[in-house]
Amino acid sequence: MERRKIGILGATGMVGQRFIQLLHQHPWFEITWLAASDRSAGKRYGDACRWKLDTPLPARIADMTLMPNVPEGTPHGELPKIIFAALDSSVAQELEPKFAAAGCAVISNSSAFRMTTDVPLVVPEVNADHLELIERQSWRRETGGYLVTNPNCSAIGLVMALKPLEERFGIESLFVSTMQAVSGAGYPGVPSWDILGNVIPFIKNEEEKLQEECGKLLGRLAGDHIQMLDAKVSAHCNRVPVEDGHTECVSIKLRRPATYEQILSAWAEFQPLKGIHEGRSLPSAPDFPVEYEEAIDRPQPRLDRMRGDGMAATVGRLRPCSLLDWKFVVLSHNTIRGAAGAAVLNAEYLAMLGKLDWKHWKPSVLQQPAGVA
Ligand SMILES: NC(=O)c1ccc[n+]([C@@H]2O[C@H](COP(=O)([O-])OP(=O)(O)OC[C@H]3O[C@@H](n4cnc5c(N)ncnc54)[C@H](OP(=O)(O)O)[C@@H]3O)[C@@H](O)[C@H]2O)c1
Repeated sequence: MERRKIGILGATGMVGQRFIQLLHQHPWFEITWLAASDRSAGKRYGDACRWKLDTPLPARIADMTLMPNVPEGTPHGELPKIIFAALDSSVAQELEPKFAAAGCAVISNSSAFRMTTDVPLVVPEVNADHLELIERQSWRRETGGYLVTNPNCSAIGLVMALKPLEERFGIESLFVSTMQAVSGAGYPGVPSWDILGNVIPFIKNEEEKLQEECGKLLGRLAGDHIQMLDAKVSAHCNRVPVEDGHTECVSIKLRRPATYEQILSAWAEFQPLKGIHEGRSLPSAPDFPVEYEEAIDRPQPRLDRMRGDGMAATVGRLRPCSLLDWKFVVLSHNTIRGAAGAAVLNAEYLAMLGKLDWKHWKPSVLQQPAGVA
C-alpha cells in the first residue's frame, strides 16, 4: 500500500519529536512536511530541534527543511492533506483552523478546540463513534478539511481504565489525584531548580481539563453534540520529578455493585479494537489497552510506561475504598499514549473509516452548521 503523506506542525517540541519517532517508519504514513515557529522556519530540522528522545534522530528527517507554518507546500511537493499538530493552545487556536479550511485533516494534541461542540475529542478504544461529528464541521462541507482532537495527557490513561467500568457498572463519582511527569510540560518545561527533589501541587488549567474532558470522552453521541457523562469528577493535579509517565490514584463510586473479580474481568476483557478492519489491526493499537499488574507496588513509571509500546494503560492496586466504592492506580506514557501515539491511533482509525481519502468527497450544503466550525 502506498503510504499517505503527512505533515507535522510544532515538529520541534516534545510531542513533535514523538510524532517523528512514531511516524518515520510507519507502515501507513510518510513524513513529507514539517513546520514549527517562525524562529525555526527555513532551518534544517536537525539544527532547529533539540532532540530529547532516546532513539537517534532519523537522518532523513534531520535534513528536512522546516517550512513556514502556513498551509502551503514545499518547493518539492504539495502540502500533505493530513496534518498532525503539536502546538501550544494559543497558537493552535489561530493555526489549526487555517489548515482545516485549506482542506486538511488536522489531528490535534492541543486543548484549543477539545470542548468545541462539533469537534470530536477521541480515544478510539473509548469513543470512536464521536468521530461522526467531523461531518458537522463547516470546513468538512466546504473543503473536505476537518479537526479531530485527542485528550489531555492525564485524561487518556484515566478514561481507558474508566470506560470498561462505565460500560458494565456505571460511574457515579470519581476522585483522582495525579503525579505528572516533567515531559508533560514540553521543552524546556519546568525549571530544574523548581522540580528536582520537589513536588509542585499546581498545573495551570489541568484540573479543569481533566474533569471536563472525562465528561465528554465518556459521554454519548446525541446527533450534533455529545451528551456529557452524568458523573461528578474531582481532580488534584501535581507535577513530580519523573521524566515520562503520568501516575494517577483514583477512587470511584459505581452506580451498580461490582466485585473485585468483576472489575478485573472488565479490564481484562476490554479489547474494543481487536479484530477491527477484517482482522487487520491498526498498527499503533495495543493488544490489551488496559493491563492489570498484580504486584503490590505497581504500576511505576519507569517499569510500566512502555507496556504495549507505550500505548497501554497499566492499572494496579485495586482495593476497597472507605469513602467511595473502589480505589486503584493507573499509569500511562504521557507523550506516547497521552499525546503523539494517541493522535497517530486516531489517524489510523480515520484511515480505516475512509476519512483520509478525498476521492469521493464533494462539497455539501445540505447539513446545517453547528458549533464554531
Ligand atoms: N508534552 C505532553 O506530554 C503533552 C501531552 C498531551 C498534549 N500536549 C499538548 O501538545 C502541545 C505541544 O506540547 P509540547 O509539550 O510538545 O510543547 P513544546 O515542547 O513547548 O513544543 C511547542 C512546539 O510549538 C512550536 N511553536 C511555538 N510557537 C509557535 C508559533 N507561533 N507557530 C508555530 N509553531 C510554534 C515550537 O516550535 P519552535 O521550536 O520553533 O519554538 C515547538 O515545535 C501543547 O498544546 C500541549 O498542551 C502535550
